[in-house]
Amino acid sequence: MNASGCGFPDAIRQCTDNALMGEASPEQGRKWRMKVNNQWIRGIWSDDGGKTVCFPDQTKLPFRLEICREGTSDALIRAIKSMQVRGAPLIGAAGAWAAAFLCREAETEEELQEGLKRIAEARPTAVNLQWAVRRVAAASEGLSGAARAARAQKAAEEICESDIESNRAIGGYFAAIIEEVYRKNGRPVRILTHCNAGWLATVDYGTALSGLYVAQEKGIPMEVWVDETRPRMQGLLTEWELREAGIPCTLIADNAGGYLMQQGEVDLVIVGADRIASNGDVANKVGTYLKALAAKDCGVPFYVAAPVSTVDFSMAEGVKSIPVEERSRSEVTDISGIGPDGDVIRVQVAGRETAVRNIAFDITPARLITGIVTEKGIFATGAGDRPFMAIIRSSPKNSYFQSVCRKFCLVKMRPLWFNNSRKISNSRGVSSMLPSEE
Ligand code: MRU
Repeated sequence: MNASGCGFPDAIRQCTDNALMGEASPEQGRKWRMKVNNQWIRGIWSDDGGKTVCFPDQTKLPFRLEICREGTSDALIRAIKSMQVRGAPLIGAAGAWAAAFLCREAETEEELQEGLKRIAEARPTAVNLQWAVRRVAAASEGLSGAARAARAQKAAEEICESDIESNRAIGGYFAAIIEEVYRKNGRPVRILTHCNAGWLATVDYGTALSGLYVAQEKGIPMEVWVDETRPRMQGLLTEWELREAGIPCTLIADNAGGYLMQQGEVDLVIVGADRIASNGDVANKVGTYLKALAAKDCGVPFYVAAPVSTVDFSMAEGVKSIPVEERSRSEVTDISGIGPDGDVIRVQVAGRETAVRNIAFDITPARLITGIVTEKGIFATGAGDRPFMAIIRSSPKNSYFQSVCRKFCLVKMRPLWFNNSRKISNSRGVSSMLPSEE
């Protein structure tokens, strides 16, 4: 890490080449949705004309806001593995920049291919990482030297920009659902969320939290239940984000959600996703599946928000197929917090001899999910449904999306794409918003 600990305001001031950074005009302010300490901020942004990227170090939050600056593929791989950057779309964006830096660094084709593989494998569950690396590689294929570096950088920038657009669109769709609940009940909408799927987990806005930010802009009152999300405590990031944004929220222990749903204290559940199979099965932070089971039992609508880049069209189902990351035992045995002197300290909560298994994600079957909110609309899921058929059908034949699908998953997916009814299944009575033609 190059500039770990560089002060936040300084880091912000240094980002002079990015017209949107610093003291933004109201117009720019609308593009940069989040402010911390009265400064615009994002999950990641480029600096030095694309030579480096900056991002908040998420291993220090919410206790300290420190901005990292990195300019090599190796440093970004380390940041992804250590979870200084985390959350599926942000891992994708960081992976795209790592691939762009690699295109600048690699001296031989062999070095390039080996490096791309290392980036794509830095974390296994969030498919956005592989998607982004492929996309940068495809954009710069056949080029060399400065031309390759420039094209790869442009592709990384485009990935980041399209993440923002997608998240904003996701937010619009989910805000409509929040609004509907508000109009029906006439009181603040009580929303439960797990892990962190806010701006910190993306380039901007977030996925699950984007709808809350858009609903806030519309003046809809909300109260948010925030799961702690052991062992990495990403719920603390969510609580920090929401508090900074002025949305009322309450931190709860991971196991409290079931009781709250049973007692009628939750109107909606919204979570993000790390990988979604073609049938709508969703991999997300461990604990999501239990929330979905409780929601089903209590009749609480359970939504997943994710960009289409999180859908793995090469996977027919998720429960048996999605690779689930297992991380180090120390994430379970030790915990970070503020010590008596105000410093961030780590304390041990389980013995060094304790047997530990640290499963980082779980898979929620499609049948438990009310709808998947994407930038292309909301897709109803259910056993046997093919929720994303319309996305594939609606994209133009020569679009990037179709070419990637053709290259990476057409063979596997052809039966699913063409053997199903044109109608998006609506087996659970959820009205799907069909994607618009591109
Ligand atoms: O291990 P993490 O913190 O990277 O896992 C993050 C999650 O599971 C998020 O819920 C998911 O990536 C959605 S991010 C918008």
